[in-house]
Amino acid sequence: MKIMGIVAGRHGGNSEILVKEALSACKEAGAECVLINLFDYNIRHCTGCESCTVQMGQVAMDPTKKYKGCVLKDKDDMDKIVNVMQTCNGVIIGVPTYDLTPSALYLTFAQRFLAYELSFRLQIGDVTEDPHTVAGLIACGGSCRDWQTLTLDAMGATMFTQSVRVVDQMMATRNGRPGNVLLRPEQLARARKMGEHIVEAVNTPVEERHWMGEPDFGMCPNCHSSLIYKGEKHWDGIQFPFECAVCGAGGDLVPDGNGSYKFVLAENGLIRDRNINSARAEHLNEIMETRKDFFARQGEIKDLMKHYKDMTFPAV
Ligand SMILES: Cc1cc2nc3c(=O)[nH]c(=O)nc-3n(C[C@H](O)[C@H](O)[C@H](O)COP(=O)(O)O)c2cc1C
Repeated sequence: MKIMGIVAGRHGGNSEILVKEALSACKEAGAECVLINLFDYNIRHCTGCESCTVQMGQVAMDPTKKYKGCVLKDKDDMDKIVNVMQTCNGVIIGVPTYDLTPSALYLTFAQRFLAYELSFRLQIGDVTEDPHTVAGLIACGGSCRDWQTLTLDAMGATMFTQSVRVVDQMMATRNGRPGNVLLRPEQLARARKMGEHIVEAVNTPVEERHWMGEPDFGMCPNCHSSLIYKGEKHWDGIQFPFECAVCGAGGDLVPDGNGSYKFVLAENGLIRDRNINSARAEHLNEIMETRKDFFARQGEIKDLMKHYKDMTFPAV
């Protein structure tokens, strides 16, 4: 069993302490553990070139074509990190909340995952064995939940391209200065519990794995996110009254009998579940259709493209 800790917080900071506590439980259970702090690596921003997805489309249409991967592959440490991560059975990720959301360092890292989409790499043989990775997510902030509203959900949204199943999450609250969390034994204990959950999940057959966090955590019964929003028509006309912003599950908000509401999945509510490869492939169809339409009509915008390209304003 191999578990990787990934920290996006300060050296000696609260996220690092919590991830180390969780990893200690894994190590005591016999797991081989590695720990990285993203501050120690050269990780460049995704350039937005879409070369990876364009190549993936080409390989899908002609499997003899070679996938060259990310254009930054030889320019930073991302390749090295992901290649190890994709051999791990578990990951425990600790990220500080900045402005209600995960720190930019974590998002810079995670937004490079697209070029390393696990299901695609397995298909083309770049990864030989499916690690069926499970994850525990830790958000750590100086405030209570009301100032950390988007961190865990945004972290969850970065897991799909890696086909990682999130089995546990925790939010560490009111930790400002480095080491603050050491004054909060209940948070340290919860992090340790997360480590135990990860070990237990890895030791459970893949199809029997399940959510191991607090049962009433979040609103979505599928991914336990708290972000449920009013659904709008999808590109192909599908619509649900309410949807989970993180996993894409569809359903409705119904009274729970205790004066509150619960999110109940529709019968077909998981057809857009981003955790399922086939449902994600449906999204690929949307991308392909959008691209096809663009290329068919590209001639119409030639002059306008030049107009905006030539338009200049003073920078700073
Ligand atoms: C730029 C910046 C923005 C922050 N924004 C928030 C915030 O919106 N909510 C919050 O709870 N904490 C916020 N914090 C506090 C950190 O999340 C907190 O200090 C945390 O413990 C840092 O984790 P670390 O010790 O692992 O680096 C912010 C800190 C910084 C530097």
